[in-house]
Amino acid sequence: MKVVLIGAGNLATNLGKALFRAGHEIVQVYSRTEVSASALADVLHCSHTTNLKEVVKCADVFIISVKDDVLASVASALHEGREGQLFVHTAGSMPMDLLPFERRGVFYPMQTFSKNKEVDFSVIPCFIEAKKEDDLQCLKTLALTISDTVYELDSENRKYLHLSAVFCCNFANHCFSLGADLLKKHGNIPFNVMLPLIDETASKLYSMSPQEAQTGPAVRWDTNVMDKHLQLLAEEPEMQKIYELMSKSIHEEK
Ligand SMILES: NC(=O)c1ccc[n+]([C@@H]2O[C@H](COP(=O)([O-])OP(=O)(O)OC[C@H]3O[C@@H](n4cnc5c(N)ncnc54)[C@H](OP(=O)(O)O)[C@@H]3O)[C@@H](O)[C@H]2O)c1
Repeated sequence: MKVVLIGAGNLATNLGKALFRAGHEIVQVYSRTEVSASALADVLHCSHTTNLKEVVKCADVFIISVKDDVLASVASALHEGREGQLFVHTAGSMPMDLLPFERRGVFYPMQTFSKNKEVDFSVIPCFIEAKKEDDLQCLKTLALTISDTVYELDSENRKYLHLSAVFCCNFANHCFSLGADLLKKHGNIPFNVMLPLIDETASKLYSMSPQEAQTGPAVRWDTNVMDKHLQLLAEEPEMQKIYELMSKSIHEEK
């Protein structure tokens, strides 16, 4: 398929490379700055622009992958002259109907992407949505060329998928960060001592539910251990609050 990428950030870079490797033609890359646009266009062997007015008028699909707070304005700037084209965005938390196009959709690969970190796209679930049935089938065909798992999901439910991803990725990562701080302050222990534990915690989830996999003082409700932990956090009132809230939540989900 002929694809235009509007955006050249973390997601567009990884998605563009995966589509290119799967044999699709990336016709053009737009980004706000020359440095981002040209860097991705070079890798994808295509032209680039930093001017929305110069974006080509016709392609099989236009993928908008920009900062969420400029998504609506970028989409609206592209509307004139491209009314009959299929436009999708890649944001988990944004509704499809934010796009002003008759042929609109969403192409949301659920992973944490960084520009300079290669990912295996085949294992990333892609969540798609489209206003028109033909376009949904087109997005499904496109997604299946790069990913083994493609789901149809509407905007309302995708909001909760995104919320779940915040808990599973961002909040879990914040706990790693809090754990790393404790190790540094008390004994200057390198964080990589935790990596086998973190790997096993994630790996258990391939064969059991998170509830089944849970261990530790909160699930056993060992109050003597939990009280000691809270005392150790006497100088860290925010962490104490998190510890209490998390422990209660773990205990109550049993
Ligand atoms: N990264 C992820 O892990 C991830 C995962 C799933 C979904 N998403 C979604 O993918 C989309 C892009 O996220 P990202 O992480 O790839 O973002 P990003 O790396 O910050 O890239 C954002 C893109 O938006 C452009 N941009 C920034 N400010 C702009 C402005 N004022 N006007 C026009 N363009 C502007 C940037 O241009 P310049 O670089 O030229 O400044 C860049 O091309 C978002 O909708 C996000 O929710 C991201």
